[in-house]
Parts: sequence; C-alpha cells; structure tokens
Amino acid sequence: MSETKTLSETQEIIQDNQDYTLFSWSKQKGTNPIAVKYGEGVYLYDYDGKRYIDFSSGLMNVNIGHGNQRVTEAVVKQMQEVSYVTPSCVTKARGELGKKLASITPKGLNRTLFTIGGAEAIDNAVKLARMYTGRHKILARYQAYHGATYGAMSAGGDPRKLQADSQQAPNFVHFDIPYKYRWEYGEENLLKDAVGNLERVVAFEGPQNIAAIILEGESGSSGCLKYPVGYLKKVRDICDRHGILFIADEVMSGFGRTGKWFAVENHDVIPDMIATAKGITSGYLPLGALIVSERIASAYDDKVLFLGLTYSAHPVCCAAALEMLKNYEDENLIENAVVMGKYMDKQVAILKKKHPSIGDWRNTGLLGCLELVKNRETKEPMAPFNAKPDEMVVMNKVAARLRELGMYTFVRWSFIFIAPPLCITKEQIDEGLAMISDAVGIADKEVEHG
Ligand SMILES: Cc1ncc(COP(=O)(O)O)c(C=O)c1O
Repeated sequence: MSETKTLSETQEIIQDNQDYTLFSWSKQKGTNPIAVKYGEGVYLYDYDGKRYIDFSSGLMNVNIGHGNQRVTEAVVKQMQEVSYVTPSCVTKARGELGKKLASITPKGLNRTLFTIGGAEAIDNAVKLARMYTGRHKILARYQAYHGATYGAMSAGGDPRKLQADSQQAPNFVHFDIPYKYRWEYGEENLLKDAVGNLERVVAFEGPQNIAAIILEGESGSSGCLKYPVGYLKKVRDICDRHGILFIADEVMSGFGRTGKWFAVENHDVIPDMIATAKGITSGYLPLGALIVSERIASAYDDKVLFLGLTYSAHPVCCAAALEMLKNYEDENLIENAVVMGKYMDKQVAILKKKHPSIGDWRNTGLLGCLELVKNRETKEPMAPFNAKPDEMVVMNKVAARLRELGMYTFVRWSFIFIAPPLCITKEQIDEGLAMISDAVGIADKEVEHG
C-alpha cells in the first residue's frame, strides 16, 4: 500500500503543495501551511473545520472580507460574455472601472493603466516617470516594500532583496526617515530632520537627474512606520520645486485600508501617480492599477506610450474590481474602517497597559502593527530588524500560539500586524485581541525588568 493512501485529506493537500509547488520567502522544507477550504467574512476555515480569524486580511488585501458572492456573480457574468480581449480592444467593465477610479482618486488623477498586481504597477510607474521626465534616478525610502519584480524590488529597501542585491536595477537611491518611536531629539525636530535629510539626498544626486520620489501612502509591511506630521506635504514641495514626480505606492494602503479611499488623503497631498492593487479586487482576482494625472497622460496624446502587458485591463479582473468598489460603498466599509480603527486603538491601549512587552502601536484606520520589545526603557526589540532564525525564537512562539488559538495574521521580526477586513465588528475585534493578549503573554516573560 502506498503511503499517500494513509494520509488524511488535509495532509494530502499539504503534501501535494509541498512536493510540487514552491513557497515564497521560506525555506522549502518545514513549511506548515494552513490548508484553507473556504472563507466567510473575517474567517477562514481549514479542511478539518478549524476556524481562523483573519487579522491581516490575507496579505492586507482582502479588504471586504472573504466569500463575497456578489463578486463571484459579476465574474461569472463577465466570463459568460467574454473572458479575454487584447488591451487594444475595450470592454464595458474596463471603461466603467476607469471612470469609477477617476471619481474616487484625488483631483486630477483620471487615467489608469491596468496591470496584474502591485509590483507591475510600480514598475510601470518607474518606467513612465523616466520616459516622461527624461531623467533616470528614482528616490525611495529604505524602510519600504514595493514588490518583488526587479524594478519594484530595487525601489524597495526591504531586506528580502538583499540576496539579489548585487543584481538590482540601477539608479534607485534610498533615503531614511527617522523612526518616531526611537527618535530621541524632540518631536519638534523630527520633521525638520526628515525633510533636511531628503533635501540633502536630492542635492547630492542632482535634482536634474531625479525622475521621481516614491513613497507608500502609508507604511505597511515595514512596520506601519508613521511619517512625521506634514512630511508628505514637504515631499510634494520638494518635487514641485525641482520638476520631480511624486509616486504614491497605495498598493497596501489604498481602498479604505486607512479609513480613506487612498492614504495620501490623510496627508492632504495629491501625487502625480498612484500605483495600487490589492484592495482594488480585495484579492479575489489579481489586478493592479497605475493611475496618473491628466498632465502626464496628455503628454502621450500624440506620442506612443511605451507600456504594455498581455493581461492589462483583463475583463474578468476589471468586472471583479467594479463590483468590489460598489461593495465598498454599499456596505459602508470605509466608514466602518474609521469607526473600528478607533475602537481598535482604544482596546489596544488597554492591552498595552497589561502587557509590558508591547512597546508601540502604530495604526491608521485598520492598517496597524504592534511592536514588541524586551525593555520599554531601552526599546530593544523582541527580534531585531531582519532577524535571523535564531533571533526569532520568542516571536515564533508568539506566532505559533496565535495559530493554535485560531488566528491567521502576519508576524514579522518584532511586529504583529493587525489589519483585519474592513467589515470587522467590535465583537470580532475583541475576539482577535483576546488571542493576541494570550500570545503576547509569552513575550511578556522575556521582558527585562529594572
Ligand atoms: C506597499 C506595497 N507595494 C507593492 C507591493 C507589491 O504588490 P504585489 O505583491 O501585488 O506585486 C506590496 C505587496 O505587499 C506592498 O505592500
């Protein structure tokens, strides 16, 4: 008898995946995936019937929650009509989606090139910025993630790129923004230092060479690191002064995640381009979008726009997105993100009093992150930046406990991300935070007192 016959359904599913597929960002041996059978709202269910509360909306993309059948119906309808047309043909869904996006984006950002996901939106933003300005350098923040294609990876500063660093695309220059939680020189100097640093980098690199500055609308997987108040407005000023384009990466922070359609609205700035993805379809199908100003788009009225993808404006993905955007409005999801975000802040403040290992909580809407520390005085993180496996022992135990209790969320270094679907209720927040409180108890034991 072959060994596979003795495997349960769950084990067989996992085994096939482990034997015949590759896992992102992991050692291939020893992965321990959840075999998900179905999802409903904020919950995922595995093949053994175990329920997991999804406290990170997948990869901060399933903004409307799991299992929404309205979207399924829209997708089926589109597929019954036509599943694919080349990007030189058009569909009703593509036009209506473009129009809808123009109505919810900041003023003047009216024209969209549809891509397959976030990284392709970033790559196309970089290419367009270079073609439009005739300049070649792109400035970006070290502590930011922009995707895993070569261009997007090179734009990001996330250490996951370090293995391929020597091969990275040229002409990406990185700068730092002070980390407010660990800033020791008075809050009044934070903005000044951050802006001064960027201005110096612009001067050293030569503003005439800089095509664009790219920044996340609100920081995500790097730890929800907040910008100093007023920083993005200063970036806008620097861009305007030197003819540099401002690209906002709203891949994670877009579509209600921060309590606005786009996170730049929290900072009262209008970028020249928005690169987005994730929440546009809530991950139901892959779709990204590069939304550009009328000024940039019209430069190509009589000139060829040298950008393209076979699956640009895929009809089925556009139909899914269109229905998705209606859903955000019909279900008041963005309003709910604001209300639930405030409730989350209140409840986490209570947790913080109880748990000495919680050093910081940074949140905008429902894009939040707990930072665990060994010592609140020294702020030594529970696991360092880019922690090696042996430095993750405590945090791995915290993550394992969360999983055991029935939570799916994103734990990285000393961060526990809290970014649930925007449809979450107070009761579900309480349920999730009770699990986090239990698991954080493990880290509390590691706190150095006195
Ligand atoms: C801010 C940001 N930009 C870009 C990306 C890349 O998007 P994708 O994984 O869809 O290529 C991500 C993914 O997490 C992201 O968080």
